[in-house]
Amino acid sequence: MKSRWYKDAVVYQIYPRSFCDSNGDGIGDLRGIISKLDYIKDLGVNAVWLSPIYKSPNDDNGYDISNYRDIMDEFGTMADFDEMLKGMHERGIKLIMDLVANHTSDEHEWFVQSRSSKDNPYRDYYIWRKGRGKNGKKPPNNWTSRFGGSAWQYDEKTGEWYLHLFSKKQPDLNWENPAVRKEIADICNFWMDKGVDGFRCDVITYISKEKGLPNGKFNPIMCGDEHFVVGPRYHEFIHELNQNSWSKYDSYTVGESTGITFEKAPDCIAEKRQELDTIFGFEHMCTDMYMEVIPHKFKLSRFTKVLSKWQTLPEGCWNTLFLENHDQPRSLGRFTGDYGDNRYEAATMLAVAMQMQKGTPFVYQGQEIGMVNCKFRDEDYLDVMARQVFSIASKIPFGKAIARACLAKRARDHARTPMQWTAGENAGFTSGKPWMMLNPSYKTINVEADLKAGEKSIFAFYKRLHAFRIGNEIIKNGDFVPLDLTNNSVFGYTRSCGGKTLLVVANFKNKKATYSLPANLAKGRAVISNYGGSTLSAELDLRPYEAAVFEIEK
Ligand code: NOJ
Repeated sequence: MKSRWYKDAVVYQIYPRSFCDSNGDGIGDLRGIISKLDYIKDLGVNAVWLSPIYKSPNDDNGYDISNYRDIMDEFGTMADFDEMLKGMHERGIKLIMDLVANHTSDEHEWFVQSRSSKDNPYRDYYIWRKGRGKNGKKPPNNWTSRFGGSAWQYDEKTGEWYLHLFSKKQPDLNWENPAVRKEIADICNFWMDKGVDGFRCDVITYISKEKGLPNGKFNPIMCGDEHFVVGPRYHEFIHELNQNSWSKYDSYTVGESTGITFEKAPDCIAEKRQELDTIFGFEHMCTDMYMEVIPHKFKLSRFTKVLSKWQTLPEGCWNTLFLENHDQPRSLGRFTGDYGDNRYEAATMLAVAMQMQKGTPFVYQGQEIGMVNCKFRDEDYLDVMARQVFSIASKIPFGKAIARACLAKRARDHARTPMQWTAGENAGFTSGKPWMMLNPSYKTINVEADLKAGEKSIFAFYKRLHAFRIGNEIIKNGDFVPLDLTNNSVFGYTRSCGGKTLLVVANFKNKKATYSLPANLAKGRAVISNYGGSTLSAELDLRPYEAAVFEIEK
């Protein structure tokens, strides 16, 4: 029986490459994580999601796996892993691993075999097709890689093309093949038998492709989605994996679910369906972007309408709450506008606005100290996606300038600069040369400085929020009622349960805002405030980025 422990969890995401380096090679590693377990515990979270740590040639920083049962050389050994897991469990922290099962690395033994000949037993582990046109030199269809360009790569050896929805070093697995599905279940069981508590399932919505792989509708940026996002056999495949692995353990799964709409979500996460426990919906993260990639101005009402809609998932479904991860730019600035000297207020306001909602919150490394986007020169971008965007854009007039402007706001590299521990050498991340440039902001924004900031410690504020929310019945199960979803300065909502009501208000602007409340919400005391105290009245005067939770008096 599942205890559904995740309903009372706050999850901290670690991007291992950039978290903490223990051996001076400039790359974060497992022993680095071990050295920070007390820090993670102190933050008051009770689960960790670890981005991939498996063997990988690192075309996409570990999201291209060459051996699912071994640890990446740079990150350490299986003994280090076992020690890390034990250290987490001793501290009451669960571990969620990243399950990357839509694709492998082209250096995985399965693919090496698969590409070696058409009659190799592993041929059908991947998706191979003949090309179109004379001599088959045109890709089999018009699908595009999520990183840009065709999703097909021609392979000289056998004269056929293989599908890769990400980089050409990430060939898609063929889930139609029962042997592939069994391999994935076995991999999950391998890690769960070791004591791992669950999985974040990478682009899991892409695993089932429509028969015949038809051309996608024309789209200037991405083609083919309608033929593989929650494809025809998606539910069957996930239910099978649930039955053959996840359901046998007290596990938690969260699916990265690009393209899943609110309407489709219940079919993916309702408890009775025995598929995934939760998904990461990205609708709120797309409210400041066109076509998921081109930035446009942030508008609070657009954002809060989406968040509030996801609060109304039907009974038996559970939500997730997040603003950051390793694929997203930092939330400060993005959702707050220019915060000037009010970085503490802006960061803690976002924390209140998100964490008082219903669902499981995820905090991304560095978010707990208010890390910010970085200024990159073209050559500083290391991410495979940014490099691909530049290479495609440079072929069209003004392309490079447009790409530069988009990446300055949107690049995944922003979240991947090394964790800022101190103002000292290399931000305390490594004694060697960091694999990626440090954000120069580390001189002022770092863990050491934040912990010393007393009343203005973002870490300490997060810690208070976690202590307040974990085990709090109103936050866990209470009704959510938004107050005024047309307001473009303040996000206000109530949470109620068992005759008790909490009022949450968050001023998203770096200036004062007034907020009118109905008489039944106008009396009460602040239980959380990022100004060290907030006063409730029918006409609330909120200071820049003021955020508070009030216990309402009847
Ligand atoms: C989603 C991951 O979060 C991202 O970092 C990766 O590039 C793609 N999936 C491909 O695995």
